Amino acid sequence: MAATVSAIELSRLGEKASGLIDPFQRTITYLRVSVTDRCDFRCVYCMAEHMTFLPKADLLSLEELDRLCSAFISKGVTKLRLTGGEPLVRRGIMTLVHSLSRHLGTGALKELTLTTNGSQLQTYASELKASGVQRINVSLDTLDADKFRAITRWGDLKKVLAGIDAAQAAGLQVKINAVALKGVNEEELATLLEWSHGRGMDLTVIEVMPLGDIDESRLDQYLPLSVVRARLADCYTLEDIDYRTGGPARYVRVRETGGRLGFITPLTHNFCESCNRVRITCTGTLYMCLGQNDAADLRKSLRASESDELLCAAIDEAITRKPKGHDFVIDRRHQKPALDRHMSMTGG
Ligand SMILES: C[S@@+](CC[C@H](N)C(=O)[O-])C[C@H]1O[C@@H](n2cnc3c(N)ncnc32)[C@H](O)[C@@H]1O
Ligand code: SF4
Repeated sequence: MAATVSAIELSRLGEKASGLIDPFQRTITYLRVSVTDRCDFRCVYCMAEHMTFLPKADLLSLEELDRLCSAFISKGVTKLRLTGGEPLVRRGIMTLVHSLSRHLGTGALKELTLTTNGSQLQTYASELKASGVQRINVSLDTLDADKFRAITRWGDLKKVLAGIDAAQAAGLQVKINAVALKGVNEEELATLLEWSHGRGMDLTVIEVMPLGDIDESRLDQYLPLSVVRARLADCYTLEDIDYRTGGPARYVRVRETGGRLGFITPLTHNFCESCNRVRITCTGTLYMCLGQNDAADLRKSLRASESDELLCAAIDEAITRKPKGHDFVIDRRHQKPALDRHMSMTGG
């Protein structure tokens, strides 16, 4: 592409080609939006105990978040995940969910979903389902109440389990996400698997990523999923399957339980070649890769004009900068965070 092509021309070209295509010919169809950096938990792998959060005045309003998401949808995004921080602690969050659900009605959006710690699901599960949300991810690393408190620092397992009950009762399909933590839940992953599958829920295990300063060493937390898989394979028959949810997980069917088990392996097996997603923070910063610092300030374009032309041009320009991938490493020589920002800022 000639360097003289303006961002607005790029935007028009992008529209003609119908979709957001990055320099590596990957089509971007999946947007994750961190609607708040705040959370009612302080998980040891995600946050330090004493976090400094953004001043509320810096956050995009719910209307601005809607406009931003809608611009991405007009450019070919078909899957939207609300995340955070804890998305369900953002005041007025259901207003945003309701309003975004209009894109499900038109068929422009295929899926509106969220990732939550489950603490507020008793309150919101029915409303989410009524708004067209079909599936949600709930993060749960252990079924042991004391361990749960130790991992989340502030969380109450009972409340989360009641939230999962409420979600299932409301008809939401629930997937459990568990971060594999060395010496913490590694002995318990089979129990979590039996429990999840027994309740008709998929389980996905995730490798801890070196994002943001926390109060512990990443090396002490990091458990490669190659080890987890080998241990589970001693007790279960794991059959590779093609099932995909549009995310980075690779799935197996566990023959004994009949359920699905996913692996998200950013460290042992980088999944960047098929990356179809970008992420927005609650201040409107677009990160084209979870593991790189390059970003685009969409808040500026959003606020510069009431029309979406500048915004769409800024989105197109940013996609031309989507990098090939990340290169997370956790070993003795790499114990510092790969990036300063925490997962709660970019959204997991
Ligand atoms: C940042 S949280 C945001 C949504 C919500 N608060 C929750 O916990 O589900 C999204 C996901 O990121 C995961 N996560 C947070 N920090 C991580 C890290 N450093 N490495 C890997 N996963 C992480 C969490 O376990 C969770 O499944
Ligand atoms: S993982 Fe989710 S629940 Fe835990 S501190 Fe981070 S944002 Fe909060």
